[in-house]
Amino acid sequence: MATALCPGSFDPVTNGHLDIIERTARHFDQVIVAVIRNPQKAQSLFTLEERQEMLHEVTAHLTNIKIEFFMGLLVEFAKDHGASAIVKGLRAISDFDYELQMAQMNQRLSGIDTFFISTSPQHSFLSSSLVREVAKFGGDVTTMVPAVVAKRLIERFGEPGRKQP
Ligand code: PNS
Repeated sequence: MATALCPGSFDPVTNGHLDIIERTARHFDQVIVAVIRNPQKAQSLFTLEERQEMLHEVTAHLTNIKIEFFMGLLVEFAKDHGASAIVKGLRAISDFDYELQMAQMNQRLSGIDTFFISTSPQHSFLSSSLVREVAKFGGDVTTMVPAVVAKRLIERFGEPGRKQP
């Protein structure tokens, strides 16, 4: 059985992430969405549990997905879970340098290969950090994130288009 990891912070999951997860799920028997437990990222918008709940909700239509947390090296988590591949989305050339370096390091450490999927063009400008910033300042991100995430952002920051303090 071929298992792939889709790793990330998912703070919060965006339509771009979901696109990569769905496409990965078509090519592998099992996909583990690996959410990093990063104590340094104390400034996260959503807690790990909130991120996990949102990921569960937005992947409920997929039968071969698990959502797990990990700490430390991704390749150790991959080995522990029998994953033979890491899958990442590439949005633009600016992603490439760092992603290539990580892929090569992970390959050297463990023999585990990284597969890159080109981000669908309609999502290529998207990142969780931009979504957080835009939502915080009252911008409308409802077309950029799944509905459950949009709802949580509205609960957190209020309706888009509201007057700024
Ligand atoms: O969504 P992000 O924050 O861009 O995800 C980055 C992530 C979690 C995929 C990356 O930081 C990672 O793999 N961290 C785990 C630590 C690790 O294995 N570091 C060595 C990478 S070569």
